[in-house]
Amino acid sequence: MENADIREAVLDDAAELLDFIRQVTGETPFLRFFPEEVTLNVEQERDFIRKFSAGNTSRLLVARIGGKVAATASIEGTPLKKFRHRGELGIAVLQCHWGKGLGTRLMQELLDWARANPLLSKLILHVNVENHAAVHLYLKCGFRREGLLSRDFYYDGRYVDTLIMGIDV
Ligand SMILES: CC(C)(COP(=O)(O)OP(=O)(O)OC[C@H]1O[C@@H](n2cnc3c(N)ncnc32)[C@H](O)[C@@H]1OP(=O)(O)O)[C@@H](O)C(=O)NCCC(=O)NCCS
Repeated sequence: MENADIREAVLDDAAELLDFIRQVTGETPFLRFFPEEVTLNVEQERDFIRKFSAGNTSRLLVARIGGKVAATASIEGTPLKKFRHRGELGIAVLQCHWGKGLGTRLMQELLDWARANPLLSKLILHVNVENHAAVHLYLKCGFRREGLLSRDFYYDGRYVDTLIMGIDV
C-alpha cells in the first residue's frame, strides 16, 4: 500500500479537486458523469467543500500520494428531518492507484467516522452493477445489497442497472 496522506478537504483543495474529478471521470465508465460535464468553477467547488465542512453528517476526504490528489471519498448527509439519520457514500480513486488498498483504507476511515457519529444510523450508496471492483469492496466492508434501479445508466448505446447498497452504523 502506497503511503497516502488522508485529510478532510479544505477550501484550498478546490482547483486540484476539479482537475482530479475531470481525470477520474475520464478513466472509468462507472461514475455518474463525463469529464465535460464537470462544469463547476473554482468558487463553486469551494462552496461544495464548504457545504461538506458545515454539515455535521457530511465529510469529504482527500487522499494525496506524493503531494498529488489520488482519491476522494465522501459521506453526504441531509438536513431533511426524515432523512438526517442517513448519509450517502461516494468514492473515487485515480486509475494508477487502483488495487493497492487505498479504496479499502478510505472506506474504513469513513465507516469509523460514521459509527462514531451519533447523528448517523445508516449509510447508503449507488453503484453501477457492472462495477465489480466497487461492489466487491462494499460487500467486504459490510454493505448489503438493498435494491436495484433498472435502466438507470445509459451509455455506449445500452442501459445498465444501478445497485443500491446499505449498512447500519
Ligand atoms: C472502486 C474503487 C474505489 C476501488 O478502489 P481501490 O483503491 O482499487 O480498492 P482496493 O485496492 O482497496 O480494493 C479493491 C478490491 O476490489 C477487488 N477487485 C479489483 N478488481 C476487481 C474485479 N474486477 N472484480 C472483483 N473484485 C475486484 C480487489 O481484489 C480488492 O479486493 P480485496 O481487498 O478483497 O483483494 C476504484 O476502483 C475506483 O475509484 N474506481 C473508479 C470510480 C468508481 O468506480 N467509484 C465507485 C463508484 S460507486
